[in-house]
Amino acid sequence: MNIILLGPPGAGKGTQAKRLEAAYGVKQISTGDMLRAEVAAETPIGLQARELMEKGQFVPDPIMVQMIENRIAEPDCSQGFILDGFPRTESQAVALDSMLEHKGLKINAVILLDVAEEALVRRLAERVGEDGSRRPDDRPEVVRSRLEVYRAQTAPILPYYEQNGRLKRIDGMQTVENVAKKIDDILATA
Ligand code: AP5
Repeated sequence: MNIILLGPPGAGKGTQAKRLEAAYGVKQISTGDMLRAEVAAETPIGLQARELMEKGQFVPDPIMVQMIENRIAEPDCSQGFILDGFPRTESQAVALDSMLEHKGLKINAVILLDVAEEALVRRLAERVGEDGSRRPDDRPEVVRSRLEVYRAQTAPILPYYEQNGRLKRIDGMQTVENVAKKIDDILATA
């Protein structure tokens, strides 16, 4: 089972992807987490990504596409994966389809978590990590920029997935448990 979770910053992609990983035995691939690991390790990609992420801007498509291509080829993704944070641009979406076709893989479900902007801002303002730390890009001015970038670059890819009825929308304003149930319902028929 291969799944794409789409949605604006703070929509609950990571929350739901972690649950799906445990429930379905498929691997969460969070491009945000992968980039934060590169930043922490001060790799060449991390050094390039840090400044962009701190401003709420996207990391260039070729880097992201290569990162995903390498990641889905790893053995722990052989039972399936959940893409959390990828694709985010039309170029990433097109590259993903051609990459999967080449590998003989397919996406079983593309799920969009729909959440009103004021709720996103509130959630990200309140979010703390397991160790009580805050993400630098959850500062209000960076959240504003992330939302603008989402509107300009990611929202326009939704029609790409609406073709052939591929996109399933879920009201992400419900409780975590109710959102999870809606996802399960979609996956039961995927
Ligand atoms: P990334 O880490 O992917 O951030 P994001 O997409 O902005 O999403 P978040 O992780 O902030 O939110 P989420 O939807 O996972 O919500 P969560 O479950 O945490 O990317 C960071 C940066 O990396 C990007 O800005 C970019 O620079 C770069 N990047 C990453 N991928 C890239 C790509 N493909 N191309 C280019 N650049 C890329 O939930 C948020 C909060 O809400 C939590 O506190 C949670 O507990 C709470 N919550 C969750 N669900 C609910 C609910 N139903 N009700 C109430 N509260 C809820």
